[in-house]
Amino acid sequence: MYADVVIIGGGLAGIITALQIDPHLKVVLLTKNKIKDSNSYLAQGGIAATLDDNYISHINDTMEIGHQLNNKEIVTFLVNESKKTINLLESLGVIFDQTEQGYRLTCEGGHQHQRILHIKDQTGKGILLALFDVLMNRHNIELMEDTACVDLLIHSTECHGVQIIKDNLLQPLYARHTVLATGGIGGIYVRSTNRSHLYGDGIAMAFRHQVQLCDMEFVQFHPTAFYDATGGKSFLISEAVRGEGAHLVHRDGERFMLRYHEKKELAGRDMVSQAIYKEMIACNQPCVYLDMRHLDTAYMTDRFPYIQSRCLEKGIDISKDLIPVSPVQHYVMGGVKTDLNGCTSILGLYACGECAHTGIHGANRLASNSLLECVVFGNQVASSINKSNHTRIIKIIGQNRQLKDTHDNSRYELLLDKVKAIISEYCWLSRNPCDLETAYSLLTTYYQEMLDSEDYSIAYYNCLNAISTGITICKASIHRKESIGSFIKEVY
Ligand code: SIN
Repeated sequence: MYADVVIIGGGLAGIITALQIDPHLKVVLLTKNKIKDSNSYLAQGGIAATLDDNYISHINDTMEIGHQLNNKEIVTFLVNESKKTINLLESLGVIFDQTEQGYRLTCEGGHQHQRILHIKDQTGKGILLALFDVLMNRHNIELMEDTACVDLLIHSTECHGVQIIKDNLLQPLYARHTVLATGGIGGIYVRSTNRSHLYGDGIAMAFRHQVQLCDMEFVQFHPTAFYDATGGKSFLISEAVRGEGAHLVHRDGERFMLRYHEKKELAGRDMVSQAIYKEMIACNQPCVYLDMRHLDTAYMTDRFPYIQSRCLEKGIDISKDLIPVSPVQHYVMGGVKTDLNGCTSILGLYACGECAHTGIHGANRLASNSLLECVVFGNQVASSINKSNHTRIIKIIGQNRQLKDTHDNSRYELLLDKVKAIISEYCWLSRNPCDLETAYSLLTTYYQEMLDSEDYSIAYYNCLNAISTGITICKASIHRKESIGSFIKEVY
């Protein structure tokens, strides 16, 4: 198989890249599950954009929340592109919530003022449903769902496509340009807001080929995922709920964020998660609560219909009850290092969206900058490819192999559970140097065992990817000595 461009991942970054590629080029868009099964589809809060000319305040908020470890030049570019980004999305059929005065803007933690556009409380879904329609009508784009990308075809310092598993056939897909848009890493944590099948696959494949990565220690924990005491599935309660006035409280009603930060519930996500974590430990409780009872029920129900109905399924009436919440893994600020054009350290290999490290987020991401990043940098990658004269394809190392229908995956499923438990315990909000060494040593042992027993199945690669991503987090966490942003290192 051959394409001019192969894009791995059908979230917002992958789709925008595909749509912005020159229609004369043949594009193959690979998704591991169905196109709707991306993290972008789950995004609730919104997309941050500077629509007036107050770029400086958006830049400053991004830098402050990132603890100044952001790349200011790239942040400035992102913010300057934000108005254009909204215009692009609207030209593709996206409709953001409006009032009679214009966009209905909201606020989230770390924003000095309201600058977040949204579509009720399912902004990702609203954006993607519009883009799917456009995508299906682009004749140069072939969508291949249920296709696992398991390796990059890298020869020396050039990428020539990917190795995929489709319908139990392991096969190469050669391409002049390969784009990693594989999204997040939530599948390697026991509790996450992410899709559970995402193991940082792009980052993991890049790691195995020594592609440059950056800042993998910076994992963001969202302060408010629904806490189900019965062990049922958790789901996100958007930060926009706090942006609209909800409080964080203990069961007795104490609004504890007043003791932690002048911005109270709207401090940066790292600060709020750490405050909740401390309170949970101090009170020996598994959760704290979100309180919306003082807010206008009609407004909150209209504004957050998805969250309201998910809470009701769990027996919680948001107008009368406290909502139990606790921090869970949400995002990774680190990833495959790219420049402003989305180029990685390997020729012909690009990255955008969550799996990329552009330098925007520093040590902690500002809420609702991620959808913006997906569009701005998906667009950058497409324009780099459109301008590129890189034509060389070397058909190397690709293999064709029919896999067994009756593969026994139980060994990898068990190992994956073990790996998730290790990462969730040792690479959590606060990390201890001894634990990190233990985790690193266990994961590298498993890694070597996996490489030795090379086995061509999706379960094998999922497990290998989870281990690889875990190693990158442990290694970076051991390396960084000081606590900053989302990364808290305990002292020996
Ligand atoms: C949220 O809605 O709280 C998540 C938004 C984000 O991750 O930026």
